[in-house]
Amino acid sequence: MALDYNFPGWIFEEEMRWLEHICRLAPTGYDQLEIGPFAGRSTQVLAEVNTSTNIYCIDPWPAYTKDEDLPHGGRSTLLGRKFQSQDIFKIFQKNIQQRYKNVQAIRGTFPENKGNLKNLGLIFVEIDPTLELFEAAWDLLIPGGIFTGRLFCMQFPDIVETTRALSNIKKSWIHQPPGTSLFYLQKEYK
Ligand SMILES: C[S@@+](CC[C@H](N)C(=O)[O-])C[C@H]1O[C@@H](n2cnc3c(N)ncnc32)[C@H](O)[C@@H]1O
Repeated sequence: MALDYNFPGWIFEEEMRWLEHICRLAPTGYDQLEIGPFAGRSTQVLAEVNTSTNIYCIDPWPAYTKDEDLPHGGRSTLLGRKFQSQDIFKIFQKNIQQRYKNVQAIRGTFPENKGNLKNLGLIFVEIDPTLELFEAAWDLLIPGGIFTGRLFCMQFPDIVETTRALSNIKKSWIHQPPGTSLFYLQKEYK
């Protein structure tokens, strides 16, 4: 896989390699969605594995002018500060859209701007979660579809709680690759 570990962003190299395995579990032939790709560091993993269908990437790509605006409410401030005053959408277009023609950008927030998305084979999320948002994403998956994300760890109790709540409601196990903050659930085949 031609992953460029120099892309700006948060996902660790080990997690990128595990994410590749998770992406390979997704049913083939269905569109995919990333919610909150930022500059595309994680997107390239999805795009390297899935070259045959559309990968929609939804993000408002806001301007970051103060710490509180940064991803994770400024909890990743040190890395985030590097991006203040930069046009992240431009970086995303250059890094990802010029390289992977099947990646489609939707500039806006999820779920408000999900449009006609449906029958997805995989969804990757890395955003501040709510159960409503996770359920809205889950509903877009086909049976056998993969719901995956990161920051399932002690430092992000809101993500752990929300993912557990989703798991309980949807009666679907949470799987976690060892030594990573990645998680995934697979929607039951009918
Ligand atoms: C921590 S970054 C993602 C990092 C990326 N996965 C990486 O590997 O570097 C979170 C992103 O989620 C976006 N975001 C936050 N809430 C969102 C929402 N409701 N819908 C879509 N994107 C959202 C932010 O704009 C930000 O770009």
